[in-house]
Amino acid sequence: MYCTMKPLLAQAMEDGQGVPAFNIHALEVVPVMAKAADAVKCPVILQVSVSTAKYIGYSLLASIVKKVSEDMTVDVALHLDHATDLEDIRGALDGGFSSVMYDGSKLPFEENVANTLKAVELARNAGASIEAELGIVGRGKIIETYPYTEPEDAAEFVRRTGIDALAVGIGTHHGMYKAKTNIRLDILKKIHEAVDIPLVLHGGTGVRDDDVRECVRLGMHKLNFGTELNVSWVRKAKEVFAEAEPDDTMRNLMIECNQAMTETIQKKIQLVRF
Ligand code: 13P
Repeated sequence: MYCTMKPLLAQAMEDGQGVPAFNIHALEVVPVMAKAADAVKCPVILQVSVSTAKYIGYSLLASIVKKVSEDMTVDVALHLDHATDLEDIRGALDGGFSSVMYDGSKLPFEENVANTLKAVELARNAGASIEAELGIVGRGKIIETYPYTEPEDAAEFVRRTGIDALAVGIGTHHGMYKAKTNIRLDILKKIHEAVDIPLVLHGGTGVRDDDVRECVRLGMHKLNFGTELNVSWVRKAKEVFAEAEPDDTMRNLMIECNQAMTETIQKKIQLVRF
């Protein structure tokens, strides 16, 4: 069933489990992701960056995810990832997304609170769930000194905004690097003690398998994986397309790439459900 991420995260919190959130990079993979999760009976959040959402079109993407969800035995949510502009949140909600993220993490605390409150109002009016971020998740170059989330700030942020899930900075980075990230589980533990809503792991690709499990134990109930799925698809595509003839059916070429992504998805699901 198509739903918001709120009941999925509430159930996961009760069961001490995680809900995986997979980044859609192209329309082709929407049914692939949903079926991969359905096959192992795992509720799933399909999420999309603002640029990919605009490339596909908000309402086209939402209608397809809704339609695909009808055939699934598990719940499926569609979530806008890292929106920094309230207009994009409006666009996604008008298009039929069931969930959004407002990311004001680069703003001063008070400005982040003020904008997040506006995003919360938009989401509530549309009956959608909302995630926000405090503390930075890195991208590109790995930085040594890091703006980790302060546990007391996290508690105040959650109390003042009324969000459904909080993304926190514990040293993760978006993307794929030669080495896995050293994350600060000690800081996560303190945030978990201070905050009573589900926390969100960003940059799941760079996190060691054992650390992903520990993050679930320490209150992270939404776990984001993006780059590694894209990498598994493209890696297989390089192999398959290199050997293909121009009149080969695209469908058959893509089936192999979709299968490679399915395997990565199911490995990630095993990490968050135990
Ligand atoms: P990765 O691409 O590093 O897995 O991160 C995904 C993510 O956190 C999306 O917001």
